[in-house]
This record gives sequence, structure tokens and C-alpha cells, in this order.
Amino acid sequence: MDIRKVSRRFGATPDLAARISIAIGAAKPPAVVQALDDVNLTIRAGEVLGLVGESGCGKSTLGRIAAGILSPTAGEVFWKGQNVAAMPSQARRDADLAAQMIFQNPMAALNPRMNVENLVAEAPSIHGMIRGNRADYVDDYLRKVGFDPTMKQRLPHQFSGGQRARINIARALAVQPEFLVCDESVAALDVSIQAQILNLFMDLREQLDLTYLFVSHDLGVVEHISDRVAIMYLGRVVEEAPVEEIFARPNHPYTQALLAEVPRIKPGKRQFQAVKGELPSPINPPKGCHFHPRCPYASERCRVEVPERREVAPGHISACHLNDSTST
Ligand SMILES: Nc1ncnc2c1ncn2[C@@H]1O[C@H](COP(=O)(O)OP(=O)(O)OP(=O)(O)O)[C@@H](O)[C@H]1O
Ligand code: SF4
Ligand SMILES: [Mg+2]
Repeated sequence: MDIRKVSRRFGATPDLAARISIAIGAAKPPAVVQALDDVNLTIRAGEVLGLVGESGCGKSTLGRIAAGILSPTAGEVFWKGQNVAAMPSQARRDADLAAQMIFQNPMAALNPRMNVENLVAEAPSIHGMIRGNRADYVDDYLRKVGFDPTMKQRLPHQFSGGQRARINIARALAVQPEFLVCDESVAALDVSIQAQILNLFMDLREQLDLTYLFVSHDLGVVEHISDRVAIMYLGRVVEEAPVEEIFARPNHPYTQALLAEVPRIKPGKRQFQAVKGELPSPINPPKGCHFHPRCPYASERCRVEVPERREVAPGHISACHLNDSTST
């Protein structure tokens, strides 16, 4: 999937009376949130791309656009080389089914009055994907996610968080997707269950040749499962690189701050420091480089000019003016 110069704004569209009031200066224009600002990102077939950044930076918005459940206000999304917005309706439907999103809270995503069998069978039935026996089709997907098919007549609330996560995954897989967008899909689970579900995602990737866009605020999780990592800040992707490269040699000052580790007393899980300074509002983001108010290296140029994306090492892209002075 190729995301090209994608922007997404959210805001109320004023009615005629409001527009007149705004035009004559009697009212202020409504606040517009620039959730995504000119994002370029490629997700390659078969890879796990981790997407990281502070709350509100636009990760879910980008995920929803990648999954085809939200349209960009500018820019284009290409799936297998074709512009999704320009596809004929059948191809568009196939592309929409090929990309599925798995949300954070399985309980909110699962209709509480539908049993597991119907939850899993619902979408593939609507789309005429079940050729043989419906029950066999459902059992097959439940087994793939490690869920006992003999329990499929029960309702979602009768299961633990981990089991509900599996139902949710089976439901997404049942429409035979190639690409999964996981938005904080394990965040609500206990740590031990998290590890099981992450392993399941990785097993399914092997078995079903899946590609993942994996949104997470947990840098440990992202480091563990990603092939590449993209870092977002206030609606922009500021850096992307292979996972070992980004953790070993972060280029962008924001990434460096994000990946700064808390000194460890005990060996074990890595812990990361919070980035200093307040996250500015996406309603009125700082000009130039969005990170300049918090950046220790900010110069006058950073306050006015948006830094361009540059390749600083093979496959390692960063958008920071500091890279201009070093590359001659
Ligand atoms: N439907 C919407 N209407 C208005 N504003 C929205 C909408 N969806 C998202 N936003 C705003 O867009 C910005 C980006 O939101 P988004 O949910 O993509 O961030 P996020 O990185 O996923 O955050 P989090 O880590 O908290 O999940 C935020 O300022 C958010 O308030
Ligand atoms: S462009 Fe300037 S403000 Fe932005 S990260 Fe680089 S040095 Fe810091
Ligand atoms: Mg989110």
C-alpha cells in the first residue's frame, strides 16, 4: 500500500448563516484539526510496519485511512499500484475487504447480542465468500486463532479479554484479508495475554502471508514485532527505518527523545522516557517543523520551513533540517 501526500482534516462545516457571519467577521471560523498533514508512507507486502507516536498525533486516523474506512481530505492511497479512490466499485469492494482493521477494545467491536458463530460468519456471508458449509467455515477460522469451536454458540461477554481478542481476529480474518491494521490491538490485555496474542499475530502472518500496519504506543512491543518502524509527530511521519536501525541510530531529534531509555536498575524489559515539553495542539500546529518548540536543536529555519524527507542511510528516511548541513 502506498499512501501519497495524504492529509486529513476534521472539523464542522459551517452552514450558510455561519459562513456569512464568518465572512463579515461576526463569528470565528470553526476549529479545524489537521489530523494528518501530507503523509507519505509505503507498506510493503509481507512486512510488519510499526507506527509510533504520542497520543493524538494521527496514528488511528492514518490506520483508518489505510484500512479504507476513512477517506483522506487530500492525497491518494494506492493498493497494489491502483488508486483506491479511482477504482471501479467491484475492485474497490475487494480492496476494502483485503484491508481489515482490528481495534483496541474487542468488546466495543463485537455486537453483544450475537453469538461467536454469527459474529465470525456475518461479513463473509454478506459478501458471498462462504462456498461450502457455514459452520465448517467458521470453525476453520476459530481454530486458526486458537479458539475452541465447540464454544461458538456463546455470547462475547461470556469470554475473557484474551478470548474476545481471538474472536475479534477471527472475525477480521473471515473475509480473507491480506493486510491487517492493528490499532492498539493488545493494549487492553494483561501482559501475559498480550504476549500470546502477539505470537498469534506472528503465526498468522506466516500461515496466511499477511501484511501488518501495527499501531502501538508500547515501544517494546513495536521493537519486538516490527520489520520497519514509522514515527509520527503531530500529523506527519518524521522518520522511518528498519527496526534495528531506528532503535540503534535514531536520526530525528523527536525519535531520539522518544527512544531515550530510562536508566535500568534491573535487567529486563526496556523502559522509555517521556518526551519533554507539551504536545502542541493539532488545531493550530507550530509552523515549519512541528517539533521546533520542543527540539533542543531548533534554529530559525526550523520555525518557518517544513523539513523535507531525506534518506540518511539505506531505507532510513528522516525529515529534519540537521540532515541538510551534514550532507554535501
Ligand atoms: N472524528 C473526529 N473528529 C474530530 N477530530 C478527530 C476525529 N478523529 C480524530 N480526531 C482528532 O485528530 C487528531 C488525531 O487523532 P488520532 O485518533 O488519529 O490520534 P492517535 O495518534 O491515534 O491518538 P491515540 O494514541 O490517543 O489513539 C486528534 O487531535 C483527534 O482529536
Ligand atoms: S527540523 Fe529543526 S526543529 Fe525540527 S527536528 Fe530538526 S532540528 Fe529540530
Ligand atoms: Mg489512536
